[in-house]
Amino acid sequence: MCGIVGYIGPRRVVPILLEGLKRLEYRGYDSAGLVYLHQGGLVKHRAMGKLVNLEEKLDAVRDVESHIGLGHTRWATHGSPSELNAHPHSDCTGELVVVHNGIIENYHALREELQGKGHVFRSETDTEVLVHLIEELFNGKNLLAAVRKALQRVQGSYAVGVMWSGAPDMLIAARCQSPLVLGVPEPGDGGGCLLASDIPALLPYTNRVVFLDDHEVALLYRDRFEVRKLASGREVSKEVKIVDWNPAMAEKGGYTHFMLKEIFEQPQAILSTFRGRVDPENGQVSLPELGLSDREIKGIKRISLLACGSSWHAALVAKYWLEKRVGIPVEVDIASEFRYRRLILDKSVLVVPISQSGETADTLAGMRLARQAGARVLTICNVLGSTMTREAHGTIYTHAGPEIGVASTKAFTCQLVALFLLTLYFAQVRGTMVAEERRTMIESLVELPPLVAKELPGWLEEMERLAEEFVKSRHFLFLARGENFPIALEGALKLKEISYIHAEGYAAGEMKHGPIALIDRDMPVLALAPQDGVYEKLIANVEEVKARHGRLILLGSRGDDGLARLGEFVVQLPVVMPDLNPILYTIPLQLLAYQVARLRGCDVDQPRNLAKSVTVE
Ligand code: M6R
Repeated sequence: MCGIVGYIGPRRVVPILLEGLKRLEYRGYDSAGLVYLHQGGLVKHRAMGKLVNLEEKLDAVRDVESHIGLGHTRWATHGSPSELNAHPHSDCTGELVVVHNGIIENYHALREELQGKGHVFRSETDTEVLVHLIEELFNGKNLLAAVRKALQRVQGSYAVGVMWSGAPDMLIAARCQSPLVLGVPEPGDGGGCLLASDIPALLPYTNRVVFLDDHEVALLYRDRFEVRKLASGREVSKEVKIVDWNPAMAEKGGYTHFMLKEIFEQPQAILSTFRGRVDPENGQVSLPELGLSDREIKGIKRISLLACGSSWHAALVAKYWLEKRVGIPVEVDIASEFRYRRLILDKSVLVVPISQSGETADTLAGMRLARQAGARVLTICNVLGSTMTREAHGTIYTHAGPEIGVASTKAFTCQLVALFLLTLYFAQVRGTMVAEERRTMIESLVELPPLVAKELPGWLEEMERLAEEFVKSRHFLFLARGENFPIALEGALKLKEISYIHAEGYAAGEMKHGPIALIDRDMPVLALAPQDGVYEKLIANVEEVKARHGRLILLGSRGDDGLARLGEFVVQLPVVMPDLNPILYTIPLQLLAYQVARLRGCDVDQPRNLAKSVTVE
């Protein structure tokens, strides 16, 4: 949570920092602030709430002649959202500033120690101890040495940017367990260096990036950078990677919201995720990035999937697929539970952390424990160079492109595609599906993007009509069975996180064990009812709801005219092979949540209290 950005170079810094913050605002929007160097002094601006409040304050200084600065967008952990707690934070002299993403766990002891030495604190944040600690250790000459010493006294997580008015040609950045990426110039072009919590903030200026590792500190100059080990100070050589995202991918492109744009990007994102990995003619899947030999795949005894939020829902779907098609036992954990239970793992277990960002703290911690226990770790991730991709034995990248809306949409369906490919690949290697069957499934997958593209405009309209009907509802139930049950959970999560309507997803057969007591004439109940292997069972549960006068919305197969008898509202979806229904049925549910949130006047892309990437426990 929180986003940091920094720039040193030939351009004017304020617009670069603002653009960077705009692209990082999904990480937190409790307050925003920036600092730049002007006429030898540090000038700081901060504002509570969204970035727009800071922008208003900056109208007069956008063109200020300054070429070095830092910015921050905050998701509050220590200290309420207020201007005083907004970053950047300064030392007692006001000549040293820090922006920080992470948590300083021993801040209380450090604060007492520093106050005892006469340091005056102005905020309630954990971050402020860091800048005073650097000040305390600084001899007025070697800032790098002071930063290194200070960070070695800090417990917790950090991505930091440090700036001193006495060093107008240098920014310092460091990381430990919070993401930090550098944007670096071509050798000799003097185009400037950037630092940021995430790649989209760099995209307008460069596609040349360097991922900092834990316990590394970087020095950024106009025309070059260097990276050193935090403890020893030894210089390390870093690989410059070229990112193939472009700046437009992180812009709204004419849509009213990022979420809507990202929903409509799904045909392309799904295609990009399977392209080059399937051969429909021969029914073959290839996933060389797994780094697993056929022998190793055949030796896997169990698969353990772990994730949070929507990514956890993707894992739940994959359990149905892998067990049905590969015949391998699969367990699925919420990462924050996985990390605190007794793990029974060894090298015969394949652990698969699933994460859009690759930075979610609990998933990362779970994955590290799995590695320590000797398991093989394969991550499914959307962000190039993120921590999970660097620490896993292998990565299947989802090629969703940058996802800015806090609600996961295209990243989720692409996770499903990646897990579907993994299922088919394991079935191929372990010989659990005949080639013809695999070929049919690959063909169906290939047909999905154009099918979704064709349906999307109609779904948008149908969901608007439904939203108008249910915009005032206070509760919502989502029901499904089998591999669609996790999609009921996902539909409920989407609705609650962006519209603030209380929503729950249930396995339809579980209704009569309690939740059915909630059904009355006002309760909207949305059931996913494709004509699959559990259709009759699902319909029986729908009848139970109808008998109790619940307001039924049914999403089912095109041509299933029997649904009209049961549902107050029926949405017919194209018929695809049952395995792919979870991908298909997710999309109208995303649109329903979007339309309800929009009609309720909610902030669709930046719902209250949330942040896109949860990098704290
Ligand atoms: O980046 P990750 O996939 O690890 O993030 C996991 C969850 O935080 C995320 O899916 C969250 O639940 C979304 N807001 C759901 O829309």
